[in-house]
Amino acid sequence: LFTHVEAAPGDPILGLTEQFLADPRPNKVNLGVGIYVDEQGKVPLLECVREVETRLARSPAPRSYLPIDGLPAYNRATGKLLFGDDSPLLAAGRVVTAQTIGGSGALRVAADLLRQIFGAQARIAISNPSWGNHHVIFRSAGFELLEYRYYDPASKGIDEAGLLADLEVLQPGTVVLLHGCCHNPTGVDLDANQWHRVVAVLKERRLLPFIDLAYQGFDRGTARDALAVRLLGEAGVENFVVANSYSKSFSLYGERVGALSFVGADRDEAARLLTRIKATIRANYSSPATHGALLVSGVLESDDLRARWEEELGHMRGRIHAMRAALVEKLAARGAPQYGFFVRQAGMFSYSGLTKAQVDRLREEYAIYALTSGRICIAALNEANLDYVADAIAAVSR
Ligand code: LMR
Repeated sequence: LFTHVEAAPGDPILGLTEQFLADPRPNKVNLGVGIYVDEQGKVPLLECVREVETRLARSPAPRSYLPIDGLPAYNRATGKLLFGDDSPLLAAGRVVTAQTIGGSGALRVAADLLRQIFGAQARIAISNPSWGNHHVIFRSAGFELLEYRYYDPASKGIDEAGLLADLEVLQPGTVVLLHGCCHNPTGVDLDANQWHRVVAVLKERRLLPFIDLAYQGFDRGTARDALAVRLLGEAGVENFVVANSYSKSFSLYGERVGALSFVGADRDEAARLLTRIKATIRANYSSPATHGALLVSGVLESDDLRARWEEELGHMRGRIHAMRAALVEKLAARGAPQYGFFVRQAGMFSYSGLTKAQVDRLREEYAIYALTSGRICIAALNEANLDYVADAIAAVSR
């Protein structure tokens, strides 16, 4: 039955990690996948998470099914973190949030639901470039994919004129996928003024904003990094969607903790949307898992642990900033001053401008893994590998 089945191509990000793990060279460095590692090169277990986990282990509880839309405390805490404690949208009952299997799960559930709602007209505009899995998820849900201009390679900044012009010509009802902060793969974000202008066009053209917030807290802090979500609310945009992930911000990658939020025009519309989100989840995976949601909500619901989390998140953010500055300095000292722009980029990633040939050399000659687009994960650098990586990048840049 399966003799004619062809193999699928490897995933450009997770497939690269498989290759990395199989590489026997001891000095190897994985700058491919977006995972934060600490000074010792380890994925951290945050103290705030450890504390909740210890409490849970002290009084183990049976695991029944969670509701289809997940743990209520988790969804409540997520709504506040995204929209703000005093959000008028939350107070008006216009936001519904469902726990999902990571941020990818949120994207997939939303894609399936929006495809049902919009039918064959379902279209989504995605930034050029974007995280590769955005295209995969929305294409496989049956969307027509469009692109809007975003990154300007010449200035290594935003192509604002191109971005606004491309949004202006989209048909009303087109979904517009925007990275809330720490744009993946470029590390180049809209500033507050640019967000204001983009939000005005989204509203005017009656487009459906869809914010993907996978790195909240990795640029400037949890509230500032939710600026896009807050601005859409303040601007009175009737409907928008938010997918968020705690993989990075809680260092809980394998727990698959994410959420999907829909904003309805009023309480009644939001409630109807929630029934549709639940029906979509039920058809996909029935209901989400317990443990990660208990960890996240346990932290977010305690003032003390929440403060500790913000501190630990601030430490991760600070370390990434320090690694950016150190890498730039070390590259300049090795005759490669052209990478000064690394310090202007936000979040885990730098769109380095390294060509595919240079990326191939990094992998083959130095066991340093990066994406063929030139994206490198700055959060994977530490004192132990920094000099080696700087040597290698400087060498392939000559
Ligand atoms: C990344 O872009 O490396 C991360 O978001 C991990 C992933 O799932 O691709």
